[in-house]
Amino acid sequence: MQPLINKYIPKATKEILGQEETVGKLKNFILNFKNEKKNAALIYGPSGTGKTCSVHAISGELGLEIIEVNASDFRNAEQIGQKVGSAIKQQSLFAKGKIILVDEIDGLSGREDRGGVQAITKLIQDSSYPVILTATNPFDNKFSSLRSKSSMIEFRQLDYLSIFAILKKICDGEGIKHEDDVLKALSRRAGGDARAAINDLQTLSNSKKELTKESLQELSERNKTDNIMTALNKIFKTTDMKIAISAFENVEEDLNEQLLWIDENLPKEYTKPEELAKAYDMLSKADVFSRRIRRWQHYRFLIYINALITAGIASAKKEKYRELVQYKPTGRVLKIWWANQRNAKKKEIARKIAEKTHSSKKEIIKNTMPYLPLMFRNKEMRNRIVGYLDLNEEESEWLKGKS
Ligand SMILES: Nc1ncnc2c1ncn2[C@@H]1O[C@H](COP(=O)(O)OP(=O)(O)OP(=O)(O)O)[C@@H](O)[C@H]1O
Ligand SMILES: [Mg+2]
Repeated sequence: MQPLINKYIPKATKEILGQEETVGKLKNFILNFKNEKKNAALIYGPSGTGKTCSVHAISGELGLEIIEVNASDFRNAEQIGQKVGSAIKQQSLFAKGKIILVDEIDGLSGREDRGGVQAITKLIQDSSYPVILTATNPFDNKFSSLRSKSSMIEFRQLDYLSIFAILKKICDGEGIKHEDDVLKALSRRAGGDARAAINDLQTLSNSKKELTKESLQELSERNKTDNIMTALNKIFKTTDMKIAISAFENVEEDLNEQLLWIDENLPKEYTKPEELAKAYDMLSKADVFSRRIRRWQHYRFLIYINALITAGIASAKKEKYRELVQYKPTGRVLKIWWANQRNAKKKEIARKIAEKTHSSKKEIIKNTMPYLPLMFRNKEMRNRIVGYLDLNEEESEWLKGKS
């Protein structure tokens, strides 16, 4: 089956939602190119907001041919000459018009790419057709010369209702059953990135063509696990300390859970005893230090813990193990999670009692909660408690289970 993200690429500009004005500007730039002061337009803005697909949709509508080059091609000036050299020359009056698209110029980075920026500048000067550059962040110093030679057109982050409309259309096209609220929640969490939203929708509708509240829960669990798996993979498979040390950058789990995940999976990956021992040594140091840090509240030292469990563990091996290992969540993580869930109900009930009785939650947990299940055995008393405290079904079930 074709991925949704490919199947629903906007073919016409009217299908590009939430960017009407911006797309209009871009289209005008291309239409009026002969009279424009600048030879290029630099379109910029966050990922998944329609930059690349707008250029394609406009060229389709205007019957123009796109000559697309990737910014990284510019690393080699000769290569770029071959690729677009002849394409940018003015051709006969009757030939099809063209757009030169240099996508994702952020790809050029560092010193070695100075030449790349120069090569693009030259392309802009020489081209007899509109040159469109795209970038997510064009305000880096290295792009200053490109900015001054281009019309700047900003794509804003999409608002969630535009994303909602995009997803809704896909759901209708695919026959995916959904509640609007769930689809809206999905749209909000994409953070203005339509590509991310469509991919989330794909993930959720792969197994069944229905979106429910549970799907959202499933998605957030899945994302969390994906992130931690990627992190483990980085730490275990790399010998490059720079890569290892950033492994947990996108991981939400707290330090304790990171330690547990490593603890569970380390012995599956590192099979040479001396390397395993070295890695566990790092892990146990991290564990001991993290306790001390918490105890003394010297939180600024936490970065050292991160170094131990990322670069430290990565460096315990001489070379990477080639076997593919399926990393698993630890049983302990699950148990902790369940314990937290149970505690969450207890705390919530205690909060309700504390509010009604004007006392502290801590006090209630200590002195009242132990007796509550007893009182709950009596049906009449139970009903009165439920009514008085306004307990929901889950909470009263939980208490019933205790009595
Ligand atoms: N405004 C929009 N309206 C409808 N669909 C959109 C919109 N923006 C993005 N999409 C969808 O998301 C996909 C990705 O968009 P696109 O490739 O244009 O993003 P981009 O802005 O170029 O992002 P990047 O900076 O990551 O390259 C498109 O193929 C389209 O399906
Ligand atoms: Mg793009």
